[in-house]
Amino acid sequence: LSIDKGNHRHFMLKEIYEQPIVVAQTLKSYVRRLEEQVSLPIPDFDLGAIRRVSIVACGTSFYAGMVAKYWFEQFARVPVDLDVASEFRYREPVMEDGGLALFISQSGETADTLAALRHARSEGQKIAVVVNVPTSTMAREADLLLPTHAGPEIGVASTKAFTCQLAVLAALAANLARAKGRLDAKAEKEIVRHLSEAPAAINGALAYDESIEAMASVIAGARDVLYLGRGPDYPLALEGALKLKEISYIHAEGYAAGEMKHGPIALIDENVPVIVIAPSGPLFDKTVSNMQEVQARGGKVVLISDYDGIQAAGENCMATITMPKVHPLIAPIVYAIPVQLLAYHVAVAKGTDVDQPRNLAKSVTVE
Ligand code: G6P
Repeated sequence: LSIDKGNHRHFMLKEIYEQPIVVAQTLKSYVRRLEEQVSLPIPDFDLGAIRRVSIVACGTSFYAGMVAKYWFEQFARVPVDLDVASEFRYREPVMEDGGLALFISQSGETADTLAALRHARSEGQKIAVVVNVPTSTMAREADLLLPTHAGPEIGVASTKAFTCQLAVLAALAANLARAKGRLDAKAEKEIVRHLSEAPAAINGALAYDESIEAMASVIAGARDVLYLGRGPDYPLALEGALKLKEISYIHAEGYAAGEMKHGPIALIDENVPVIVIAPSGPLFDKTVSNMQEVQARGGKVVLISDYDGIQAAGENCMATITMPKVHPLIAPIVYAIPVQLLAYHVAVAKGTDVDQPRNLAKSVTVE
């Protein structure tokens, strides 16, 4: 992948569009399609002996870690601690034998994450690193190096690195589950099948670019925007709000859909668009009922769901974005696309510097 914008107006858009390819490229290292197995570089420790995982990262990489917490606990039944790196050391976390500390970073150089890594090592933890720059400091210091193959990411707001991180983390969750004796061959085969469907589903999601662009001007006029999601799609609400803040400078907050009634619902009126991320699946009805609480208060909802979800609940929404129908496992990977595109088009509508937003740096190497 060459480092120019190609036909795209911004690096960010180019990087959004690269996702079907780079996610496929990344999955190749972690999924053996013919054997119908997930795989990892062989760690120099016994994955099956891991009793606890501490996930540490910053920014968008932190939200990838937050999705992974749901996966590791659900599939491998391994308890997970999750911290932003700047908090990790200073809260004096308890790290016992059999702990794996997992660091996620696009650059592999973020100062807080690196310091957290060294702290975890000094506490006797095994160190796994999901990183996009293979020559980075974090890559060198890992016991288990899990590269993403997103290629160079130039836009300050992370996009393709995030979905590649999710792909690696899903495979890691499955590997951990297998090592723990919690994944039989049939279930593993299913996971491989779902993961292998991700690149095509991302392509399907990109097909909605124009309709997302069409609604961007409405969001661009808002002062505040709320994002709601549940379960593994809750971190996507946080990521959506982060993306919007970063590049459009609109105040945005992500909330667990069920937590909205404990505060943010007070903000709802016709001037606060609410983006609801609700793929079909076990949590759909719950999220929809939270969405209806918004609508009952005059809130303007943009519902992101699949065809069935939109048929079931799209009626009173200001707008809907139809995603391909995917298995809940890969929904966070696929639903990242509309969230990125929405932030992108809103920023373009506002005329901000999309690739180099004010006050932000691609890699933060100071504490
Ligand atoms: C900066 C970037 C973000 C990124 C975060 C973590 O804030 O602007 O896009 O998510 O750092 O960076 P890392 O390289 O550790 O993933």
